[in-house]
Amino acid sequence: MSLYLDHLATLQRQAETALERTGFDALLIASGIEKYAFLDDRPYLFQPNPHFKQWLPLTQHPHSWLAVRPGRKPRVVYYQPDDYWHVPPSAPSGEWVDAVELVVIREPEEAARALGDCVTPRTAIVGEADAALAGLIPNNPEPLLNLLHWARGVKTPYELAQMRAAQRLAVPGHNAARAAFLRGESEAGIHRAYLVATGHTDRDLPYGNIVGLNEHAAVLHYQYQDERAPAEPRSFLIDAGAQVNGYASDITRTWVAPGHDEFAALVAALDVEQLGLVDEVREGVDYRDIHLSAHRRIARVLRGAGLVAMSEEAMVAEGVTRPFFPHGIGHLLGLQVHDVGGFMAGETGGVADKPEGHRYLRLTRTLQAGMAVTIEPGLYFIPTLLRELRASRHAAQVDWTKVDRLSCYGGIRIEDDVVCRAVGEAPENLTRDAFAAIG
Ligand code: GLY
Ligand code: MN
Ligand code: MN
Repeated sequence: MSLYLDHLATLQRQAETALERTGFDALLIASGIEKYAFLDDRPYLFQPNPHFKQWLPLTQHPHSWLAVRPGRKPRVVYYQPDDYWHVPPSAPSGEWVDAVELVVIREPEEAARALGDCVTPRTAIVGEADAALAGLIPNNPEPLLNLLHWARGVKTPYELAQMRAAQRLAVPGHNAARAAFLRGESEAGIHRAYLVATGHTDRDLPYGNIVGLNEHAAVLHYQYQDERAPAEPRSFLIDAGAQVNGYASDITRTWVAPGHDEFAALVAALDVEQLGLVDEVREGVDYRDIHLSAHRRIARVLRGAGLVAMSEEAMVAEGVTRPFFPHGIGHLLGLQVHDVGGFMAGETGGVADKPEGHRYLRLTRTLQAGMAVTIEPGLYFIPTLLRELRASRHAAQVDWTKVDRLSCYGGIRIEDDVVCRAVGEAPENLTRDAFAAIG
């Protein structure tokens, strides 16, 4: 059986179990709708319902629907308008077509009739409120969504194949971006080089590229791209991914211009610790422990570089690593860059708390084989956070001359996408594998 058909069979099984356990007869999933700017006729970029694109490799298909019922082929209500203003979705094609019962509609409202026989008083309808049609009002039942979101944490072989492909698409972009940086191009120029090399446009990216030169690397989600190159490009942080059939990659690299050896040594030291953290992605490990391990490892880097003169234990206990590493070590990855379900305590819901004082951690679950996560330690020189440290009782332990000297590089983040494997097996580093294969 093909990977896709096997994936579909897994989703059908999971959905049937979830329906039975929560007392629903059917699951309807809306692909989503196009949203428009206020008082305007310009649509925002379409963002599909992730539940929809998990079943079908259809990512630019507003107003379509999927119906799942026990023991039946899924029904796809495929919206294909007669539209001469835009390119409508092409005629349905691909492996999915034969695996479903297909109904093509020309108007969004026709979906209500095309799904009428699937609707009972116990129908779960998953979608945004805006997707509502007469008779099809999303109710998003939480007990059912919990079961589906929990299951989504573990990827099927088909999903892992899409995610490997999303790495292979992004890596040439990263290589081209690095070359553009070394040529002295602006952030905007580097961004364009990335798009050309990936074959993506901004519409295809799984999130807006983060392209920061020098001090801009200190802004965690730096959202602009300067057209003017700095007089002296010293450092370059790029956080950029790609998408294949709705599945994302999420990769960060930090590059250093020749001759900036002190900062380059810091990047190399963090790289060693990042690889150590990747190796901690093992079945049965509490991901929160990897986050706490990251703080210990960053303490080691800070101490080794002579930035902070405290023991590693004291640095972590006193929170001195936090201003340098003020985000989580990573998150679930898949249909969404920050995939759902990261805080679930179990398949029926509940919350697994973040460690106290670590509010930006996005994953608190125990790792299972087949989970895809990011591992993205950082070490930054962020002016507002350093001001607080400078005013704290630990200020005397910090070498401020060194901090000031390194602040012009902004910071470092190194992010790989990693798949947890069975007990005793080393994790699969999707990102490094792709870099090694592509060169
Ligand atoms: N690109 C966003 C993140 O790394 O979480
Ligand atoms: Mn990222
Ligand atoms: Mn990430």
